[in-house]
Amino acid sequence: MAKQTIREIDLKGRKVLIRVDFNVPLKKDGAVADDRRIKAALPTLNHALAAGASLILVSHLGRPTGDAATDAPFKMDRVAERLQAVLGRPVKKVNDTVGAEARAACSSLRPGDVVVLENVRFNPGEKKGDPTFAAQLAGLADAYVNDAFGTCHRDEASMVAVPERFERSRRAIGFLVEKELKILDALLGKPKKPMIALMGGAKVSDKILVIENLLPRVDHLLIGGAMTYTFLKAQGHATGKSRVEADRLDEARKLLEKAGDKLVLPIDHLTAQTLDATARTEVVSGNEIPEGWIGIDIGPATAEDYAARIAAAGTVVWNGPMGKFEDEPFRHGTERIAQAMTRSNAITVVGGGETAEAVEQFGLADKMAHVSTGGGAFLESLEGKTFNSLKVIPDL
Ligand code: 3PG
Repeated sequence: MAKQTIREIDLKGRKVLIRVDFNVPLKKDGAVADDRRIKAALPTLNHALAAGASLILVSHLGRPTGDAATDAPFKMDRVAERLQAVLGRPVKKVNDTVGAEARAACSSLRPGDVVVLENVRFNPGEKKGDPTFAAQLAGLADAYVNDAFGTCHRDEASMVAVPERFERSRRAIGFLVEKELKILDALLGKPKKPMIALMGGAKVSDKILVIENLLPRVDHLLIGGAMTYTFLKAQGHATGKSRVEADRLDEARKLLEKAGDKLVLPIDHLTAQTLDATARTEVVSGNEIPEGWIGIDIGPATAEDYAARIAAAGTVVWNGPMGKFEDEPFRHGTERIAQAMTRSNAITVVGGGETAEAVEQFGLADKMAHVSTGGGAFLESLEGKTFNSLKVIPDL
């Protein structure tokens, strides 16, 4: 269902509270390691500024615990600096979210001004969805925009209780959320066929609901990553020292039964003696992993088989790396899949933190039709879940 967007709400002369997801990876020295999520919010921010609004931006960063010393790296200062650089206009960072400093900064806002509030999760009321905190935050602004796709699966105050405080004509989604929802609608609605889903990552347990929801929609679901070995073990193969979720074998068996030919497992494997990047490696053909060896990436024949299927697809959705791509010797499978997607004429969608990171690392992110800014939010959307943060935004 299409939602009211920032296009439909009156912005001129208004203070607009924009919930963004600037929960970006940080380097050890606290600098922003990847500004994709900041850049992804720019269309919404520029639109609101051009329409004569002033902006109050609010986000979480990390998972603060309430301990001042350990929470210090999660202050929004470096994020605000990066935003100022990519937005190309002054950005004022304030040191609280709803305290005296934020209230003073927000009361004197003029059209074109941009304020970044302190990490919203520094307030215990955020996680709890506390109504008093929500009223204080909402009280800073005249209108509300949700452009935080990556946080849409959370029921936190700034996502649900805050928008509820605004009249319905003053609540909207931004362009990033609009784009992510359109892509998801296309994937879960009438995707261009044949449709292929690629699922990787460590655990079957993280992907069971996604696999179940995607199975009726896809032509093939290709498996990679460590979760392969839970499926192989469930089929009775030897898995050596590979990671296996022993408590999920029954579920894996049921999924295999239900999926039949649609679920495709690797036909060969890169194996290593340890998880270390310098470990001895061997390619194993077939599905018996020798004693003492760990399946660490899909093998070259699997990579070529999957690449050929991707080349012939109409739609490809990919979540979860094919192997331990962070280490050069184990990245071939993940890189080959990423390459195949950029060469295919299919609509190519990449989602999930690690998968997005991998395509970014290979320099291929810009060649995909869409790289989602959501991790958990993307996965839960593929599971078919609906979010309260979007229910509070009026339908168009
Ligand atoms: C994410 O990175 O997935 C979102 O920003 C949500 O963060 P969270 O998992 O800490 O709620």
